[in-house]
Amino acid sequence: MLNNHGFDVWFGSYDFSVREADANNQYPFAEYTNLMNAIYGTIMNYSPVKIFDIGFGTALLTSKLYDAGNYITGIDFSSEMLKIASLKMPKANLLQWDFSRGLPPALNNQSFDFIVSTYALHHLTDDVKAGFISSLLNLLEATGVILIGDVCFRTRGGLLLCKDTWGDNWDDSEAYFVFSELQERLTPICDLAFHEFSFFAGVIEIR
Ligand SMILES: C[S@@+](CC[C@H](N)C(=O)[O-])C[C@H]1O[C@@H](n2cnc3c(N)ncnc32)[C@H](O)[C@@H]1O
Repeated sequence: MLNNHGFDVWFGSYDFSVREADANNQYPFAEYTNLMNAIYGTIMNYSPVKIFDIGFGTALLTSKLYDAGNYITGIDFSSEMLKIASLKMPKANLLQWDFSRGLPPALNNQSFDFIVSTYALHHLTDDVKAGFISSLLNLLEATGVILIGDVCFRTRGGLLLCKDTWGDNWDDSEAYFVFSELQERLTPICDLAFHEFSFFAGVIEIR
């Protein structure tokens, strides 16, 4: 699993590697563009809104939402990703923060219409992930929605099948989402839905 320095190194070629994998229908970024466009379209139905992006990276998604007049807050632990995102979104509230430490205190008392995170939260273990997502509910407006786009499987069986298919290319250090397991953990406190985009990518919608 990459730490913040790993992402500092990857930032220059990130957009290219994502496009390549998407175009060739490859793990882990097949359907990346469609998934991002779907999240963009959902949010734009309500624009302008307040959005919190977790692990914004090179801001491929949020810079488009920013350009369309939405209000962006975001966290990422990579200083290089932060530099790129700040250039694209000079007036956004972007913080360098490691989300494995929870949420930054600077966000206490803030609220958002949408909380988005794409291809970032699989860096948390399943236990930590569930706790972190629960804490996000406190930052949501009453009608707010959390949209998590990532490598995600409906069941553990789907994940194991994909792992077999991709063999040596599979990254065992990532804790990819298994929707049924997350749903079991979080159903007592929120409603969850899963929108599948490919054999191994999807959007989890939480209200
Ligand atoms: C694969 S990139 C995804 C970027 C962007 N959301 C996208 O979909 O193109 C993952 C991003 O999450 C950030 N990230 C990973 N682990 C993190 C952590 N523990 N705290 C904060 N940011 C983290 C990385 O720096 C990187 O920018």
